[in-house]
Amino acid sequence: MTDTVRYDFNDKHAVVTGGAAGIGQACVQRFVNAGARVSIWDRDPQALQVAQALHGAKVHTVQVDVSDEASVAQALASSINYCGHIDMLVNSAGITGPNVTVVDYPLSEWDRVFAINVRGTLLACQAVVPVMKLAGQGHGAGRIVNIASVAGKEGNPNASAYSASKAAVIGLTKSLGKELALTGITVNCITPAAVRTGMFDQMTQQHIDFMLSKIPMNRFGSVDEIANLVMWLSSDACSFSTGAAFDISGGRATY
Ligand SMILES: NC(=O)c1ccc[n+]([C@@H]2O[C@H](COP(=O)([O-])OP(=O)(O)OC[C@H]3O[C@@H](n4cnc5c(N)ncnc54)[C@H](O)[C@@H]3O)[C@@H](O)[C@H]2O)c1
Repeated sequence: MTDTVRYDFNDKHAVVTGGAAGIGQACVQRFVNAGARVSIWDRDPQALQVAQALHGAKVHTVQVDVSDEASVAQALASSINYCGHIDMLVNSAGITGPNVTVVDYPLSEWDRVFAINVRGTLLACQAVVPVMKLAGQGHGAGRIVNIASVAGKEGNPNASAYSASKAAVIGLTKSLGKELALTGITVNCITPAAVRTGMFDQMTQQHIDFMLSKIPMNRFGSVDEIANLVMWLSSDACSFSTGAAFDISGGRATY
C-alpha cells in the first residue's frame, strides 16, 4: 500500500517491538518509507532475517524476548550502538493466549500472556524512556505508542488474560503519559478491533467469528489502517495528546 499521508522521520530512530510481523511490521515499513532508521525487537529469528534482507541498513534487527529484563537491556545496548538516540517506541509484541473460560484458564498461560503483553511493554518503556529524555535535550520530543486492544475496554469472553492484559496496557499508558507530560515525550495507546495477522492462528475460528460479529463495519481492520494511526501518534503533529487511548475498531468501541 502507498502511504496515504507523508511523514518526515529523517534523522529519527524508532524501536518497534514485535516489528517482524503483523501490525509491527506494517509500522516498520511506514517508518522506513518516511526516512527513519528502525530497530526491530522481536523473538522470531527467521522473520528478523527476512526483515533485515528486505530493508538492509535502514533497519537493525535484534532477537529479544520483551518479557525478559536482561534480553531487553541487551537489545537497548545494541540499538544505541546502531543509532545513538531513540525518538519513537512502538510496543507491538503481544500474544493472545488460549480461548478458554475464566474458570478453566490455566495459570501458566495467564502468566505468559501478562509477561509478554504487560511486563514486555513495561520493560521496553523502562529501557527507552531514559534514552528519550537524554535525546530530548537536543534531538526533539519522544513518542511512545502502545498497541493495546478493544478487548481491554470491553473484555472478550473466552479471552480473559488477553483482555485483562490489554486493560493493563491502557492503565500503564495513562500513568506513564502523565508522569512524562512535562518532558515533551508523549505516551499513547491504540485499541484496535480484530486485524487479520498471524495472531489469528492463535485463536479458535469461533472466537474469530465472534470478533467480526462485534464490528459494525462488518470487516476486519488492515495492518495499514493501524499503521496510519501509529504514524500520526509517532509524529510531531500529535502534540497535545498523551496518556490517551485511541479507538480504531470499525465502530465497535462505545467509549
Ligand atoms: N491482530 C489483531 O486482531 C489485534 C487486535 C488488537 C490488538 N492487537 C495487538 O497488536 C499487537 C501486534 O499483533 P499482531 O496482530 O501484529 O500479531 P503478530 O502475531 O502478527 O505479531 C506479533 C509479533 O510479536 C512478536 N513477539 C511475540 N512475543 C514476543 C516476545 N516475547 N518478545 C519479542 N517479540 C515477541 C512475534 O514474534 C511477532 O513478530 C499485539 O500486541 C496484539 O495484541 C492485535
